[in-house]
Amino acid sequence: MPQDYTDTGSVQRAFVQTATTALPELDRWTQITDAEATLVADMTRRNELSGGTPIVRAFEKRWAEWVGTRFAVTVMNGTSALYSAYFGMGVGPGDEVICPVNTWICTIAPAILLGAKPVFCDIDPLSLLMDPEDVRKRITANTRCIVPVHLWGNVCDLDVLLAIGQEHDIPILEDCSHAHGARYKGLMCGSLGAAGCWSFQGSKPISAGEGGVLATDDIDLFERACLVGQVNRIAGIDLVGARYEELQPLGLGMKFRAHPLGIAIASVQLDKLAELNKRRAAYIAEVEAGLADIPGVSPCRLYEGVERGGFYGFPVIHDPSVMGKSTEAFIEAAAENGLNLGRKRYPNLHELPLFQKGFDLFTRKRGPLCPENGYAGYQNGDFPNAEAAAERALFMPELSDPVPDAARIILDALRKAAQR
Ligand SMILES: Cc1ncc(COP(=O)(O)O)c(C=O)c1O
Repeated sequence: MPQDYTDTGSVQRAFVQTATTALPELDRWTQITDAEATLVADMTRRNELSGGTPIVRAFEKRWAEWVGTRFAVTVMNGTSALYSAYFGMGVGPGDEVICPVNTWICTIAPAILLGAKPVFCDIDPLSLLMDPEDVRKRITANTRCIVPVHLWGNVCDLDVLLAIGQEHDIPILEDCSHAHGARYKGLMCGSLGAAGCWSFQGSKPISAGEGGVLATDDIDLFERACLVGQVNRIAGIDLVGARYEELQPLGLGMKFRAHPLGIAIASVQLDKLAELNKRRAAYIAEVEAGLADIPGVSPCRLYEGVERGGFYGFPVIHDPSVMGKSTEAFIEAAAENGLNLGRKRYPNLHELPLFQKGFDLFTRKRGPLCPENGYAGYQNGDFPNAEAAAERALFMPELSDPVPDAARIILDALRKAAQR
């Protein structure tokens, strides 16, 4: 008998919005609802499944307006948004790109594939975000891009980073993959640097299943980003200036285009983002306020003018010397009280064999990670703050629609676990 695809009643959710499964009973949020399903079904019936369909065009226009940039272009994931942005700003062989060592590997991988050398920087131990003073120390004549990553929805020290970029004439690329709707001094993250990139991967605050978007004010960056990944879209739309006119409509023949169904889902998710951010912010504020009477557990630092958004994770910082209990013992005690505290979500990049030993990326001893080509490699101990944070940062449950007493339940568990 053929499968009845109209029967959604028995469909099991493969993904939940919150990236952690700790205490799922405390969260009532459903990420994907009938609104997304109906739109996808309608588009499928219309065979609106490929190319720069109206929904993709409308979404890009809306995204640019919402972020406050002149241009936006959708792509198949956050990684290809970053690839397009790096290409857009001319990152290539011989260049260096600085990013925080505690980010997801996809922040830097596209730059490496373009031939640039990854240069990691340490973090501010209180915010867990890129430390601008450490960035400063790592700038060389070859630095071509600095990438603040607004990890877990918290926002980097942008005034200082933008000033460093300006001082050295180095573009800033904001990786906003965790921070949809976050703001800095009233402006939307992703609009402050040369370009902003977002992931719409399935567990993100806006999901396309898989998808991503790039936004920029810079016409040349935008056009180059389209050249590298938007083959055969309608001439005159992606390429808006005259400079690359003769390359239309094929561009460079590469294709990172987003799936229209994914963008349709993302468009519904964007409708819901303000509400989602409000709920997550309220829950996190309640828990963070309650930490005041739990010595040894602190919220992450917020820089002046930051309004968090997305909240892709909820880290807090444990201090064993204040609590009088090791982090391991605290985690165990929390688990005994029903609360699973997550440990590090991402490996610090300098600890990976790829970045310690290097790799003959393009074969025949070529590429930016090749020891024979001058790649020195990192070692354990190179990034003391990020290494300490990996031991001390604990991830709390991320709840988007918490049951009324969720914060109290969590704080009770933390309080009991903290007792000697
Ligand atoms: C900080 C960061 N940058 C980039 C990406 C890449 O996004 P995608 O998985 O959509 O390619 C991710 C994905 O989780 C991320 O966390």
